[in-house]
Amino acid sequence: MKRRARLLVVGAGEVAARAVRFLPKGVAVIALVRRPEAAPAWRARGAKVVLADLDDQRSLRRIAGLAPWVWMLAPPPGEGMDDPRSKRLAAALARGGRRPRRLVYVGTSGIYGDRGGAWVRESDPPRPQTGRGKRRLAAERRWRAFARRLGVWLAILRAPGIYAEDRLPLERLRRGWPLPQEPVWTNHIHADDLARVLWLATFRGASLRAYHVVDQSGLTLREFYERLAETFDLPLPPRLPLAEALAAVPPAVASFMRESRRLHSTRLRAELRLRLRHPTVEGVLAALAHRRETKGA
Ligand SMILES: NC(=O)c1ccc[n+]([C@@H]2O[C@H](COP(=O)([O-])OP(=O)(O)OC[C@H]3O[C@@H](n4cnc5c(N)ncnc54)[C@H](OP(=O)(O)O)[C@@H]3O)[C@@H](O)[C@H]2O)c1
Repeated sequence: MKRRARLLVVGAGEVAARAVRFLPKGVAVIALVRRPEAAPAWRARGAKVVLADLDDQRSLRRIAGLAPWVWMLAPPPGEGMDDPRSKRLAAALARGGRRPRRLVYVGTSGIYGDRGGAWVRESDPPRPQTGRGKRRLAAERRWRAFARRLGVWLAILRAPGIYAEDRLPLERLRRGWPLPQEPVWTNHIHADDLARVLWLATFRGASLRAYHVVDQSGLTLREFYERLAETFDLPLPPRLPLAEALAAVPPAVASFMRESRRLHSTRLRAELRLRLRHPTVEGVLAALAHRRETKGA
């Protein structure tokens, strides 16, 4: 009897939950879940659940050979310069005879660091300036070495800010935190478009290749938050010179305001052949504003 196509999902969070909705029928999903209370939702999606924790190597013993395709979406831990979670997963997947054939790693565009608003291609050398960016770069390098050593087909997805209608940073606006008056270029992707790319990247494009998964918005940080504020009738954030704005917000928030860059998406369109369902943040916010108006009318 023919075995069903199997996919191991690691980092079984919000994007992964969206992504399995876009799988063709007949793909059996195995979700690696660390909190037992998250298991029922994955079973309700039709997945088999393996309880394991990327922070505990022994718990990963059973995952070798489970599936020929693997998606890795778990972030590195909050400290250090490496990604021990990717390291443990790679070690666990390399055990035994049946290695995965294809792996997609979801990382971030934070590996580029600040580029002063310049356009960035996937082939540009990474220059992370934060611990978060450095850990992400370490993870990418780990997966490249793993793929080269074992002959595994690898796609690296570099995601910018992920948003959706129910995933918007309204709390930041409510706190009244200032924004820089200088242009700080940001990049976005709708969570459903990123989710759809996961399947495409499993089979399209070339191995050992990185892809920016970014839409066509072209907004500065200030423009993004001002449109958000208008959509939800929230006060416009105060504008300050960059240095003053940085000093007025928590360090984690400030670190995002320090990095300005624009991501090319040629590979995403030409090689993965993604047709964005949500090409711009402005379009999604305009549709939300319309919905709010018609509800209120
Ligand atoms: N937020 C953004 O704008 C942004 C931008 C670029 C890239 N990303 C990255 O894109 C990826 C997907 O995003 P998302 O929104 O789907 O994130 P998410 O909902 O936080 O999902 C990440 C999943 O990884 C799991 N995980 C974390 N540590 C683990 C461990 N030690 N063992 C097993 N599982 C572990 C989490 O499990 P629990 O549910 O138990 O916590 C969670 O389910 C993440 O790596 C995220 O950091 C995010």
